[in-house]
Amino acid sequence: MPAALVPVGARRPPGRWRCLTGRCRHCSSCSTISRRSRRRFIRADIFEWVPDRRYDVVFFGFWLSHVPPERFESFRSLVADCLKPTGRVFFVDDAHRTAEELVYGESSSLVRRQLHDGTPYRVVKVPHEPKALERRLQQLGWRITITPTSGPFFWGAGQLGLNDH
Ligand SMILES: C[S@@+](CC[C@H](N)C(=O)[O-])C[C@H]1O[C@@H](n2cnc3c(N)ncnc32)[C@H](O)[C@@H]1O
Repeated sequence: MPAALVPVGARRPPGRWRCLTGRCRHCSSCSTISRRSRRRFIRADIFEWVPDRRYDVVFFGFWLSHVPPERFESFRSLVADCLKPTGRVFFVDDAHRTAEELVYGESSSLVRRQLHDGTPYRVVKVPHEPKALERRLQQLGWRITITPTSGPFFWGAGQLGLNDH
């Protein structure tokens, strides 16, 4: 049986999808499911979302660095709530912030980024340092290893702590 995976912060899926609620364009929370597979896509504010099952794997790509520092702990709890006792966590991320983005200062977790049309937005971008992040998650009970790659990139893999189950 294939492993069940919940990717967090995924982009909108390509192709044709059927909205189970029929309200896809208007609702803030709905599920879509592929006609050909049993994959389910859920559109929701991740900070409001409550999982209705547990998964073998939780994956998040270039997402953790956008979690506001004050929501870090609740996001960690959400991941715990999503996982089966033997479940695994895997993520990739980066700490890349350009000098032009740092209009709120280097110590701020906010940067300014522009859309292609020039519209500016304040964006949360926390430049996690891999070893410090690993220590923090381990202190919170996760059995996790975070490995830097080239440049500002890193990936993390592991499991929750025993107290999370
Ligand atoms: C930096 S992108 C990463 C997207 C994808 N994981 C990738 O690697 O291409 C962050 C994504 O999180 C989504 N996002 C932002 N805030 C969110 C929230 N509160 N709940 C759910 N998704 C959110 C954005 O729409 C965006 O698609």
